Amino acid sequence: MKKKLPDNFTVLIGGEKGGTGKSTIATNMALMLKLAGYDTHLVDCDKQMSSLKLSSRRSANEIKPQLICTHLQGDQLQVPLADLSEKYEAVVIDSGGQDSVELRSAMISPSVTLLVVPIQPGFFDVETLMDMNKLVSTSKIYNPNLEARCLISRASTHYLDTTAEEARVFIQSELNSLKDMKTVIRDRKPFGYSVATGECVYEYELRTHAKEKKATSEICDLFQEITGFKFINSYEGRK
Ligand SMILES: Nc1ncnc2c1ncn2[C@@H]1O[C@H](COP(=O)(O)OP(=O)(O)OP(=O)(O)O)[C@@H](O)[C@H]1O
Ligand SMILES: [Mg+2]
Repeated sequence: MKKKLPDNFTVLIGGEKGGTGKSTIATNMALMLKLAGYDTHLVDCDKQMSSLKLSSRRSANEIKPQLICTHLQGDQLQVPLADLSEKYEAVVIDSGGQDSVELRSAMISPSVTLLVVPIQPGFFDVETLMDMNKLVSTSKIYNPNLEARCLISRASTHYLDTTAEEARVFIQSELNSLKDMKTVIRDRKPFGYSVATGECVYEYELRTHAKEKKATSEICDLFQEITGFKFINSYEGRK
């Protein structure tokens, strides 16, 4: 039986730094929630519309289940986000790549209880988290239930890589409003290939009979860390 998500489960994927994997994480998380059987809605607040385009490609390629995505812009997202979180079991928001009015508006929306900030583990990248840390503490004045977590993303797959752990130490020691996440998402080709067809990495690695399914394993870890339980595909085999 499907486990119950917390009421109004609305996750914002955002951050000030561009290209950290926000749209990749947002679309993958939304699709994993959908595959796990939750009525899920994806919101794209970015003018690049990467998430919206992925959902259109998925629909054009007739991949089931389909994922509905809405494009929302502006500094008044509180009401539309509250409506969506009332209507759907899960809402995932891709806030786009800068300190935008959409990011700020979503962060102070009471329906948003979890902010995930993907960050690449280089010093120039992690030091930008100081500003994000301030933005989170200000947002908490308006949205006290907001929990904010940093997700190390696009980390090197080299076995001698230490940058991911160094980034974790920085997050733990320098930031009081942002906590680290246990999951690390590494730079893996399936993350790039899957978005081209409108799939998540789980679907892509299954379809291409990938041997090791390392990207799937990471996205399953993220699913578990965010929801509190293991991913089970409740859609497989259904039409
Ligand atoms: N874990 C990953 N492994 C390999 N490639 C990745 C990974 N995450 C993202 N990418 C690639 O990096 C690029 C940027 O990713 P994405 O568009 O998700 O970032 P973003 O944070 O949404 O960017 P923006 O700030 O422009 O909105 C894309 O080409 C994407 O395919
Ligand atoms: Mg993006």
